[in-house]
Amino acid sequence: MRLRNVNIATLVAVLLSGACAYAQFPGMQQAKHYAWSDKSLSPDARADLVIKEMTLDEKILLLHGGGLGMMSTGPSESNGGAGYTRSIPRLGIPAIQMADSAYGVTLGAMKGRYSTALPNNLGAASAWDTESAYEYGQLIGRELRNQGYNMSLGGGVNLTREPRNGRTFEYQGEDPLLAGTLDGWVEKGVQSQHVIGDLKHYAMNDQESGRDAVNVHADKRSMRETDLRAFEIALGISDAGGVMCSYNRVNGTYACENSYLLTDVLKKDFNFKGFVVSDWGATHSDAKASHAGLDMEQPGDFFFGENLKKAVQSGSVSEAEINEHVHRILRTMFANGLFDYPTKTEVPDVDRGYAVAQKIAENSIVLLKNGHNVLPLTGVRTVAVIGGHADVGVLSGGGSAQVSAPGGSPVPPPPAKDMMSMFIHPQWMPSSPLRALKSNLAGAQVTYDSGDDVAAAVAAAKKADVAIVFAYQWETESQDLPTLDLAPEQNKLIEAVAAANSKTIVVLETGSPATMPWIDKVAGVVEAWYPGIRGGEAIANVLTGAVNPTGKLAITFPRSDADLPHPTLVLPPPSSKPDYSHMKSIDDFMKVAAKGLPPFDIAYDEGLKVGYKWYDAEKKPALFPFGFGLSYTTYAYSGLSVTAGETTKVSFTVKNTGKRAGTEIAQVYASLPDSAGEPPRRLIGWARAELAPGESKQVSVDVSRDRLTVYDEASNSWKLVPGKYVILAGSSSRDLPLQQTVSF
Ligand code: BGC
Repeated sequence: MRLRNVNIATLVAVLLSGACAYAQFPGMQQAKHYAWSDKSLSPDARADLVIKEMTLDEKILLLHGGGLGMMSTGPSESNGGAGYTRSIPRLGIPAIQMADSAYGVTLGAMKGRYSTALPNNLGAASAWDTESAYEYGQLIGRELRNQGYNMSLGGGVNLTREPRNGRTFEYQGEDPLLAGTLDGWVEKGVQSQHVIGDLKHYAMNDQESGRDAVNVHADKRSMRETDLRAFEIALGISDAGGVMCSYNRVNGTYACENSYLLTDVLKKDFNFKGFVVSDWGATHSDAKASHAGLDMEQPGDFFFGENLKKAVQSGSVSEAEINEHVHRILRTMFANGLFDYPTKTEVPDVDRGYAVAQKIAENSIVLLKNGHNVLPLTGVRTVAVIGGHADVGVLSGGGSAQVSAPGGSPVPPPPAKDMMSMFIHPQWMPSSPLRALKSNLAGAQVTYDSGDDVAAAVAAAKKADVAIVFAYQWETESQDLPTLDLAPEQNKLIEAVAAANSKTIVVLETGSPATMPWIDKVAGVVEAWYPGIRGGEAIANVLTGAVNPTGKLAITFPRSDADLPHPTLVLPPPSSKPDYSHMKSIDDFMKVAAKGLPPFDIAYDEGLKVGYKWYDAEKKPALFPFGFGLSYTTYAYSGLSVTAGETTKVSFTVKNTGKRAGTEIAQVYASLPDSAGEPPRRLIGWARAELAPGESKQVSVDVSRDRLTVYDEASNSWKLVPGKYVILAGSSSRDLPLQQTVSF
């Protein structure tokens, strides 16, 4: 059997889920009193008290995963998640049970437990809403606890440099302030449930192709102001307990043994108090990784088990360094209540999950085009729904983030080509847009055509007042998209239906931007992302006007791949591709991963110009710019006033000039003085303004100094460049009617 691009986590977790029995350790059952049981002590003090009692073996035990031995016949403490650390009953130290949980708890349903599939992360980011980000995390945290987990593996916050990245759907878009802020609130929500939060994949892990071999080249300033800035902001808000270092190398050194990233930046400059956990199989050394700042190897112990112990015994790693790692892990466990609030398995509150998922989906959907106000659908008698399996469900994102569809995917998987495709294949959530549309449009005739036969779809479209084509792009960890273009047959279907019915609306379910060669031929376009377990209902509510769309893009939609900073995806040479052909067991697989692969290079020479900053600097039109999204009402901006200071006060008026109530996401950008050497504009704040028809509101945005500073490599500090700053406000990065110049 030959496996390509194997996703370790999924493979491991899938295999484990059936095989593991969760054995309670007798010592864990009675709550014994220890010196560190005193809740009035600080997490640091409590951690130090434990460390004093620990043997070297016990310390080492905390620094690595329980290993793949949990698949073996003996008892295992694994709860069936992607990874865990063992408990130490003698000292009352509980196991850390980790589960992937980017947009919901994964693998829970495989054990017969339900978990809520929320809209994917990039989708949810389009709500630009810190409150719903918090609710998103809270729900994930609650459902993790329900299922016996006390650490989340989610929180993807890499900025999208390469939108064809198969994990774009798991991240929060292309702007460090927006992504960092939203992810910070998600993780704060997770941690509110006594579950350790996690940010990943640290850092510059921007594509899946050759992810464990790629050597990313980027200068410090570009890193600090883009990806690393997003991590910094997210950490500042959430105090997330875990940061997962990534598979790739950065400037020649693996991320998980990169002292610049782990120690100089994360632990020193960001003042990170939690622990660094390696991505699954991303540890490649013992002493080197330990010195660099890696605290925990997952999922096994190739390096941070016996090897690390030997390194301590031989003196190449000091016990003080081991204590530092252990301290970080224990203090994080105390800080998040792992000792004081043990998990209690409970049935998740499905209705509550549905309500949260639907609300977030409704806030996430972005109306991209609405020619002649074709939407919302009012007074229509006949609607032809076409394609995208809209009769049975909505698409979801794959890989370790995959939340299982309750009851199984209503669209059967294609025949498996190999072991991986048995587990990694498109899954639809059973939430049918067709059913929801029929219910919302009770008086109308709503038909469905699969779109498999273009002629039949055209005939259906011709007979209807309105045609709605559902198109999609499936995305998953471990594979990048070859292009942002939809599959040719989907583009053909859209063209043909649009030629047959001038009121054709396209609903997209994608995890990345999509190109739209047919944009001028269709009347409407709605981006629904992977909208989760209530996606069908949310889409129908937006299409029929029960919900007025508010979402705005957290990512630029380019006209074509040719406009991207890297027009073609950089692929690994054959020598940098893993050979798993001799793999007989997961252990063999892990050994291959641990050994590492010859590097290949990607130069991120677009530097600071990530996302919209690239298009602005290169003066390239976008198909839809960052921050863009329409509504069924309209808004007008006026009266900007800016008072510069330590906190710069920006205020302006937004008026709802239409006939429907709506919420406008008003955005504030800054152009820095030329001498700062920055791209033309950066987002410095936003506000959500809820407005009744005809209502005006004054919107105030406070801009802290750090949103205007630039990173100075020579002094390793952030500087406010003296000069003139243009502050702009409006409805997207390319529609900024208000501006005022201030000096600093
Ligand atoms: C993924 C991580 C995931 C881990 C555990 C890795 O392959 O890159 O995002 O958390 O597996 O499943």
